[in-house]
Amino acid sequence: MKLAVFSDIHGNLEALEAFVQDAARRQVDDYICLGDVVGYGASPGQCLERLSGLPRLSLLLGNHDAAVIWQTSPYQMSSGATKAILWTMDQLSEVQTRRLASLEETVRRQDMLFCHANPYSPQGWHYVTTWFRAMRSFMASNRRLTFVGHTHRPKVITRRSWLKIQFDDPPAEAPLTLDAESRYIINCGSIGQPRDGNADGCYVIFDTNMQQVAFRRVRYDIEGAARRIEKAGLPGYLAKRLYRGR
Ligand SMILES: [Fe+2]
Repeated sequence: MKLAVFSDIHGNLEALEAFVQDAARRQVDDYICLGDVVGYGASPGQCLERLSGLPRLSLLLGNHDAAVIWQTSPYQMSSGATKAILWTMDQLSEVQTRRLASLEETVRRQDMLFCHANPYSPQGWHYVTTWFRAMRSFMASNRRLTFVGHTHRPKVITRRSWLKIQFDDPPAEAPLTLDAESRYIINCGSIGQPRDGNADGCYVIFDTNMQQVAFRRVRYDIEGAARRIEKAGLPGYLAKRLYRGR
């Protein structure tokens, strides 16, 4: 089975569309979205609708989704994020808002766990970017594989033995073949606002039979997405950063 694991669309319809086409060409069986469908970008409602059209989709809650439905305060975010969240609240229909309110924090399947930020405090929204947070994440679950998003930077975190945890950038070319003895946290990057210096959308395809994780980069119409952000009157840097992938 092939799973497309993707995250952090952030209202970027152009990037979402490019991802959908890329994943469909690779005959993905299931789609798992790790949250942040909305926030920053100018097409939040359209992105939610486009996702509803995907077959066998699991959709999780991200921190921007939570802020839009006041599960957390939008005023505790950066000023650009706050503005975009308040704007997003006015764009969504009641049905779309209810959809966000119905999202799960985590999903478990066989030896896998999926969440937006980390498995030890899903609504604490901490980034898994340090040894300590990786350790807490591994301890919080007994699943071999954990998939996260949230940082907008793809990463492979491997635990080969009790205290030995290693952070690696994803392999550029060939897919990563998982070692049966190790545990992993895989960060699938961001579809709609990558921050690793590569402006292309990023997601992973996990082939459960081959035990291989392929990191995919997908070019999309950045100009179109940026134009919409400017036209909506959202902060200009939210458009400019898309070109830089930062
Ligand atoms: Fe995000």
